[in-house]
Amino acid sequence: MSDTIYIKSGSEIEIMRQAAKIAAGARSMGRQAVRDGLTTRQIDRAVHEYIVKSGARPSCLGYEGFPAATCVSVNEQVIHGIPGRRVVRNGDIVSIDLCATYKGFIGDCAGTYPVGEVGAEAKKLIEVTRQAFFEALRFAKAGYRISDIGGAVQDYVEGNGFSVVRDFVGHGIGRGMHEAPEVPNYRAPRTRPNPRLVKGMTICIEPMVCAGDWHVNILDDGWTVVTADKSLAAHYENTILITDGEPEILTMADDI
Ligand code: MF3
Ligand code: CO
Repeated sequence: MSDTIYIKSGSEIEIMRQAAKIAAGARSMGRQAVRDGLTTRQIDRAVHEYIVKSGARPSCLGYEGFPAATCVSVNEQVIHGIPGRRVVRNGDIVSIDLCATYKGFIGDCAGTYPVGEVGAEAKKLIEVTRQAFFEALRFAKAGYRISDIGGAVQDYVEGNGFSVVRDFVGHGIGRGMHEAPEVPNYRAPRTRPNPRLVKGMTICIEPMVCAGDWHVNILDDGWTVVTADKSLAAHYENTILITDGEPEILTMADDI
């Protein structure tokens, strides 16, 4: 990935808003498809159809060979689950993560949703993961640094007894799905680039949280990231714009 941070112009931001709005709508569709008895492929199809009907392209499909529009990750799967024949059942938690390309720019968002009634730990995990994003958002302002975001996520998550994934990070976004800078969910070691945030940056803040230990493995399918200790995991992501005031959540929707 190039180290160049692309600051978006006013007209580019306007297109980013539109791409992100489609991504947010697709996440809502996916969330509604997270129901007992549906397959992960059916969840993907709902997302995929929404993106296409909105005049956008599902950016994940074909990205480095990923075979679907949506990453659908169940229970101990953290991210990058491949949709397929697996049926989701009451008590499962399901993470969906998708990107939409519209007029050359990309919106990216994710969320973890319960199927029916889930256990107390799962409920808390989902809520802490989502709230970790909003804790970090307080530092998503011009003048703060990338490590302020990661530090806020880490402190909040660990304060609630959970852990943050180290091997995967948030990112800048724009014409590319993954632009500089990297946006870790922990305080970056001093050797890592730690740029200041400036107006016009568009980034994805995406806490990936484990109920147990943060170490992960990748399954033989080459994609699915699972917790090494098989503990539950959750994910929450929005594309945001840095302004000279409060950040703007570009993938905002009623039900995020
Ligand atoms: N949307 C994911 C992210 O947050 C990337 C998905 S990987 C893909 O970066 F291969 F599915 F595209
Ligand atoms: Co992302």
